[in-house]
Amino acid sequence: MSGKARVIAIDGPAASGKGTLARRLAEHLGYAYLDSGLLYRAVGVRTIEAGGDPSDPAAAVAAARALAVEDLEGRELRGDEAAVAASKVAAIPSVRQALLAFQRDFVADPPGAAPGAVVDGRDIGTVVCPEADAKLFVTASVEVRARRRLKELRERGLEAIHSRVLRDMKERDARDSGRTVAPMEPAEDAYVIDTSDLDPDGVFAAALEAVGARNPLG
Ligand code: DC
Repeated sequence: MSGKARVIAIDGPAASGKGTLARRLAEHLGYAYLDSGLLYRAVGVRTIEAGGDPSDPAAAVAAARALAVEDLEGRELRGDEAAVAASKVAAIPSVRQALLAFQRDFVADPPGAAPGAVVDGRDIGTVVCPEADAKLFVTASVEVRARRRLKELRERGLEAIHSRVLRDMKERDARDSGRTVAPMEPAEDAYVIDTSDLDPDGVFAAALEAVGARNPLG
C-alpha cells in the first residue's frame, strides 16, 4: 500500500473485552487485525508439543523462531492450557524479541493492503508500536473478568468453578504485570476504558470517540 498505515494499539488484561473491541474496530475501519496473544499461545503450544517446558527459555525461543503463520490457527490455541503456557513463554525476553519482528512487519505492511492495523495485546502501545496513532487500554475489575470467563467456559460446555477461574485470572494478571520485560501496563498516552459496567456497544462507542472515528451507533 502507499503511505504510512495507521495503527491502533489496544492493550489490557484477559477477558477485559479488548479482543471483541479490536475485531469490531478493525472491521468498522477496514483495517487488518492482529491478536498478538495468539502468537504467544502458539509458541506455548508448540513448545509443549515438542516435548519442552514453556518456562524453559531454550525450548520456548526455538518454538518462537520456528513460528509460521499457519500455527496461528487451531482451536487448541483458545483453551486455558494454551493461555497458561502463553503467559509463561511471554515472560522470556528472547521469545518477546523473536516475536517483535513479526508484529512490526504486520503493522508496517498490513495484509490485504489495508490502510491500517488494529493490534491487541499487553505491550502494543508501550513496546511494539510506541508510535501508534491511537492507544487504548481496556480493563475491568478482576471479579467481572472472572465472571465473564466463567460464562464463556460454560457456554462452551466446559465445567468450571468460579473460585478456580478467579484464582487463575489473578495468577495470570500477576505474571503479565509483574514480569520485568514488557510488563502489562497502560502507555502514558493511552486512553483507558473500564468495561466493568459497559456492554460491547458502550465499549465500542467509547473507543470510536477515543480514536476520532465516526460512530455508526448514533
Ligand atoms: O490475550 P491472550 O489471553 O491471548 O494472551 C495470552 C498470553 O500472552 C497472556 O498471558 C500474556 C501474553 N501476551 C503478552 O505478553 N504480550 C502480548 N502482546 C500479548 C499476549
